[in-house]
Amino acid sequence: MILQPHLQIDNRADLLRIEMLMDATRSKLKRGRGVIEQYREYLPVSESTPIVSLGEGDTPLIYSSRLSKRIGRGCDVFVKNEGINPTCSFKDRGMTLAVSKAMEGKANAIICASTGNTSASAAAYASRAGISCVVVLPAGKIASGKLLQAFACGAKIVAIDGNFDDALRIVREIGERDDFIVVNSINPNRIAGQKTAAFEIVDVMGDAPDFHLLPLGNAGNITAYWTGYRQYQSRQRSTKLPAMIGFQAACAAPIFHDRIINKPETIASAIRIGNPASWKQARAAIAESSGAVDIIPDEEIVAAQIWLARHEGILVEPASAAAIAGFFKCCNSQEAAYSFKEIPEGRRIVCTVTGHGLKDPDVIMQRMGRVEPVAATVNDVRRAIGL
Ligand code: F0G
Repeated sequence: MILQPHLQIDNRADLLRIEMLMDATRSKLKRGRGVIEQYREYLPVSESTPIVSLGEGDTPLIYSSRLSKRIGRGCDVFVKNEGINPTCSFKDRGMTLAVSKAMEGKANAIICASTGNTSASAAAYASRAGISCVVVLPAGKIASGKLLQAFACGAKIVAIDGNFDDALRIVREIGERDDFIVVNSINPNRIAGQKTAAFEIVDVMGDAPDFHLLPLGNAGNITAYWTGYRQYQSRQRSTKLPAMIGFQAACAAPIFHDRIINKPETIASAIRIGNPASWKQARAAIAESSGAVDIIPDEEIVAAQIWLARHEGILVEPASAAAIAGFFKCCNSQEAAYSFKEIPEGRRIVCTVTGHGLKDPDVIMQRMGRVEPVAATVNDVRRAIGL
């Protein structure tokens, strides 16, 4: 801060005012410096931890009047847009901590299995840290934007003839035997970093919401949110805990069916997982919060993706749209695992959308007809508009 030369500091009130200004400046600078700087006291870091950050977190919590209207009864619905992170997914919150701790431990290389977003995030944070990164992916099942991110950031990409669950099995084994730090959510630093999303929500809303809806894949994120909400409540930063409601794709729903799915299938490739690593923790979060797990067919996922883009201007990837489709199911369907039909007045609901739509353009692209060019005249353009 630059002090004006004419500013006279002649009493306590002036000093206090200046202190407050300095505080505001400091906290402004802290913003945009990432989740570790913002929430250091809640994370396993010390002064000697080298912080590897790309300015993740501090993502928008967007009030949706249209979703609020859907549910009615004076309830407010917010969308936590995690696509607005450095690599455009929520994974960055955990990756900053996982890679920082890997650097503290003098690691030279990280490895992960991924349905796409973890690999994009790991690749970016590894390149920022100056270490190498290996990503093991199910061949042909990674959205093009995510693969491009991992490639551009210089990761070694290994595609396997198998699914995510096979990739994670292999990565676990390599992590045990060889000199790699595994940065999947089985690494507790990933979960610790991701819990900061719950902190942000409480900080913005002034308390925890009543319901939190999100997609479920490997089940790390629901575990992280629940940890965050509980930790904030135990430190008196909030007075209540939300019911956690998770959504799986109908043909990739091991937690819902309570059995491993050997051949999970869904258009939402990010959550095409048949044997989630944090299965037990997700079950505990759902049970302890009196929440639920439910399933969404692919058509409803795509419909919700398009609805959110057309009605709120928020373009998310299909997996993220599962949370919105899930919200609709809670509002409308008799078969919903959790019904909002009898919801008390004035409840607050947060839906996390986990990744940006541009990462996975193929699904929408297929629906886009060819845009035929017209002649470059005002008349032709007017005709094309229908004037
Ligand atoms: N949404 C998106 C966009 C994801 O990429 C993932 C998981 C999830 C939701 C589910 O979160 O696994 O914590 O329950 N993606 C992982 C990956 C598996 O490899 O990128 P989860």
